[in-house]
Amino acid sequence: MSGEPRIVGFLCHWCSYAGADMAGTSRMKQPASVRIVRFPCTGRINPLIPLRALLDGADGVLISGCHPGDCHYREGNLYARRRFELLQRFIPYMGIDSARLRYVWVSASEGQRWQEIVTDFTNKLKEMGYPKPKQVE
Ligand code: FES
Repeated sequence: MSGEPRIVGFLCHWCSYAGADMAGTSRMKQPASVRIVRFPCTGRINPLIPLRALLDGADGVLISGCHPGDCHYREGNLYARRRFELLQRFIPYMGIDSARLRYVWVSASEGQRWQEIVTDFTNKLKEMGYPKPKQVE
């Protein structure tokens, strides 16, 4: 296999997008594996969107929002966490390993943490194999 796994990142605007941006502007070394989609809040991400990404060929999905208590819309990230925990339990029924979906907290000042998460998730997906096997739709 060559290249990097394809990861779609769904990030909240206020914390995680700023954290990822900080990692980039600080020139932290990280794999070029994530394509970022910015949302106002993780609470606004319909679970069907990351599911669609996985069904359409993404090797992994990384969802990232503000830490608990820091959501700019008070509790959007807490609703999101419940939804994505359910989605993680559901996707094996569609033939997708639940480890291909990851939900994390990253604040605007955590560029280093973002870099570590992206590196770790990319390595994990490489271990699991990519492109990922076809699933049943
Ligand atoms: Fe970041 Fe809600 S604003 S998760």
